[in-house]
Amino acid sequence: MPQKATSISFSNIAFIKYWGNRDAVYRIPLNDSVSMNLDHAFTTTTVEFDDKLNDDVIVIGGKEVDGSARARVVSHLDRVRKLANIETKARVRSQNNFPTSAGIASSASAFAALSLAATRAAGLEVSERDLSILARQASGSACRSIPGGFVEWIAGYSSADSYAVSIASPEHWELRDVVAIVSAEEKKVGSYEGHAAAQTSPFLWTRQSALPSRFHLVRRAILSKDLTLLGPAIEEDAIELHMMAMTSRPPIYYWTPGMVRVIQSVQQWRADGIGVYFTLDAGPNVHLICESKDVDRVAELARQVQDVQQIIVNAAGGAAHTIETHLF
Ligand code: PMV
Repeated sequence: MPQKATSISFSNIAFIKYWGNRDAVYRIPLNDSVSMNLDHAFTTTTVEFDDKLNDDVIVIGGKEVDGSARARVVSHLDRVRKLANIETKARVRSQNNFPTSAGIASSASAFAALSLAATRAAGLEVSERDLSILARQASGSACRSIPGGFVEWIAGYSSADSYAVSIASPEHWELRDVVAIVSAEEKKVGSYEGHAAAQTSPFLWTRQSALPSRFHLVRRAILSKDLTLLGPAIEEDAIELHMMAMTSRPPIYYWTPGMVRVIQSVQQWRADGIGVYFTLDAGPNVHLICESKDVDRVAELARQVQDVQQIIVNAAGGAAHTIETHLF
């Protein structure tokens, strides 16, 4: 039985957002969501189960972690230990190639990578579907970082039927996500609190009733590679995510002046004839969605906006996979 395994998993940006749970314990969402994996925003994780360890040792970004960050990883290792019927403690080392918690969904790639590395290290061969179900329980959006390319997560009603599948491969469409980083600080309110707070927004059911038709439109836009169909729908959905956050009780404000500057620039760039649309995550950074033919121009324009500190250009990323080079 292999004791050690390493995996890479790509973060994802949602075009239809997951915001609010039907079941918070198992992370069964209220609605279906759609995303694209990001090939330049990934997590690499090595897990080794070792009989000699008295406790789990978790190192993230070169630092041993404790408190709630550690507890979340240990709970996930416990799910894997239960599946494998073992009690062995593990050594985990994980690193992102992008700033943690800056509106790039780091928990998505982190828990997708942990799910794959830990199950392999425990000697389990888990199907993509079951891996997606496992990852979902640690971070909802992590279930969408298991399959490759463009991905849909069908909400389902129970743990066994809430998982993500690929709807198109990374090569299907040369779509790009230029992430304009206006703040690399960790966000103050995590998505766990955000999902719970969503229930208190008076707009929750307005959004939920609009989602089925938007979901099908976004899906169709991806399959037919139609950016003018996709763009307005993803902007609408991104604004609704933030509207939900700002109207929950207590309200959550992820907005910053830099973010608004980028959004307003996008409207100007579009008026100037560039095919670019924005989406947002639960943070201040802006994801600029365009086709590869416009990506250099969009990246150059984004760099010039006041407050943009860095940009990361992504194509569609592949599925979570194992590699032979371990981190220790
Ligand atoms: O997976 P979580 O619990 O971090 O929630 C992710 C929520 C959003 O990133 C804001 C939207 C999404 O669907 O990815």
